Amino acid sequence: MNPDFKEMEKDLESVMFDRDAIEKMVARLGKEISDAYRESIKERRLILIGVLKGSVIFLSDLMRQINLPVEVLFLQASSYGSGTESCGRVQINMELDKKLVGGADVILVEDILDSGRTLKKLTEYFAASGANSVKICTMLDKPARRVVDIKTDFKGYDVEDEFLVGYGLDYNEVYRNLPYIGILKRSIYES
Ligand code: IMP
Ligand code: MG
Repeated sequence: MNPDFKEMEKDLESVMFDRDAIEKMVARLGKEISDAYRESIKERRLILIGVLKGSVIFLSDLMRQINLPVEVLFLQASSYGSGTESCGRVQINMELDKKLVGGADVILVEDILDSGRTLKKLTEYFAASGANSVKICTMLDKPARRVVDIKTDFKGYDVEDEFLVGYGLDYNEVYRNLPYIGILKRSIYES
């Protein structure tokens, strides 16, 4: 039995991706990643690096759709203040011991790609870490909002420029536990 989420649901304009759409997307990405690393895993470790906190739910489902021996690490980065607009400066709040990724194939796992600043900064960070390769897997992408040039390797869905919550995505730290992804009403963040 799934609980209902009426308390948070009233703040949504509409649901964009329901549980079923998310499940299909995650299964597709898991297969794409498994296929891409099936040979290299015989020689090199594969590490998923989750960007806290937004990617936690996505990553935990995604790793169970990858049928290879994969490792997981987390780090925290933030470019957002408390609102819906990026402040432009990216901070890595939790550094990783770079020795952990030396020689390995790394996939950065992000909830949503917006200006691209966060992943740009993290890609540079890991390029200097001695990893064999650094790729990007993002659940959602807002191409219209891009400020820096960045290429994704594995992507769930492209979305319009709207503020989304649920399935890990937050507004002021809440709504992450909604089991689907919805558009947040403007009145919630414009008041
Ligand atoms: P970027 O550095 O501008 O690409 O910012 C990416 C980060 O902004 C994501 O990891 C999210 O934390 C946050 N973000 C961007 N768009 C949304 C959204 O629609 N809902 C919730 N968080 C968002
Ligand atoms: Mg995030």
